[in-house]
Amino acid sequence: MKLLVKLNIILVLVLASALALTGYFSYQMLLKNAREEVLQNAQVMMQAAYAMRNYTIEQVRPLLKKLPRVKQGKEFHPQTVPAYAATEAFNNLRKTFPDYSYKEAALNPTNPRNRATDWETDLITEFRDHPDKKMIIGDRETPTGRSLFLSKPIKISNSACLSCHGKPKKSPRAMRKIYGENNGFGWKQDEIIGAQLVTVPMSTALKKAHKTWITFMTALVSIFFLILILLNLLINALVIRPVKKMSQFANNVSKGNLDEEELPVHGRDEISTLANSFNRMLRSMKEAMKLLDG
Ligand code: HEC
Repeated sequence: MKLLVKLNIILVLVLASALALTGYFSYQMLLKNAREEVLQNAQVMMQAAYAMRNYTIEQVRPLLKKLPRVKQGKEFHPQTVPAYAATEAFNNLRKTFPDYSYKEAALNPTNPRNRATDWETDLITEFRDHPDKKMIIGDRETPTGRSLFLSKPIKISNSACLSCHGKPKKSPRAMRKIYGENNGFGWKQDEIIGAQLVTVPMSTALKKAHKTWITFMTALVSIFFLILILLNLLINALVIRPVKKMSQFANNVSKGNLDEEELPVHGRDEISTLANSFNRMLRSMKEAMKLLDG
């Protein structure tokens, strides 16, 4: 096998393994970064939900409570309910970002739109079985692509909740008029009744990671090819061609052709040293022949 072919096979094998390893690890890293970025989005959304809930409790509720008809128990405004405020605010956000969602899912909800779906029920059951669990993060396939969800348990830690979610008879009559008496009641102190759920799409971040990876790998493969071509040209010019010339020279001399022109010598590298030795050999042979002839 020719020297250059051997060298190229080894180089391509080494470079291909290096490329495969770099490709694998860089892709994993980009995926991890994309996930972290999406998770951060989800965390911001969860905090925004808390902010809306607090705003409702601290500012909206005290104001609406002052309305005469509310005082008399004739009117109930869901706008004073933190769960309602956060859900409504996020429904507004969904007009611009339809793939993002926020839900306060409950097993036995006051408002049917908050009823937990199958996979949400599984999450709530997980929280109920493991009361020390404060958060569950995961991803799942949705019709619009892969999504990441972040969920936190909703626990009845404040007995004030039971004034509306305890026994139906004890809840405000105006509220029962809107929501009925069958749902959202019978919750118990310290019970985990549902979960807050933020869903954020991953597809955009994943697509970005994929694109970055393709660009990075294309650049890397191009650089490797350039190095390969350059190395081939250099080895050909610095080693292969001079060695071919020398073997031709040695061949001719060995056949007795002592009129051969001396090899060109440039610089002081190994190839030049070898060329020098060949030239010296030719000269010595010429001397020897002269002595023999004489
Ligand atoms: C003044 C009555 C009232 C009080 C007090 C109250 N809630 Fe509610 N809650 C409601 C109403 C009404 C809804 C339904 C809102 C809607 O239409 O989305 C609701 C909805 C919810 C939901 C969404 C699921 C569902 O049932 O539709 C959760 C979770 C919830 N409340 C938790 C709590 C917790 C926890 C507390 C105590 C910190 C509490 N609530 C206190 C009236 C109340």
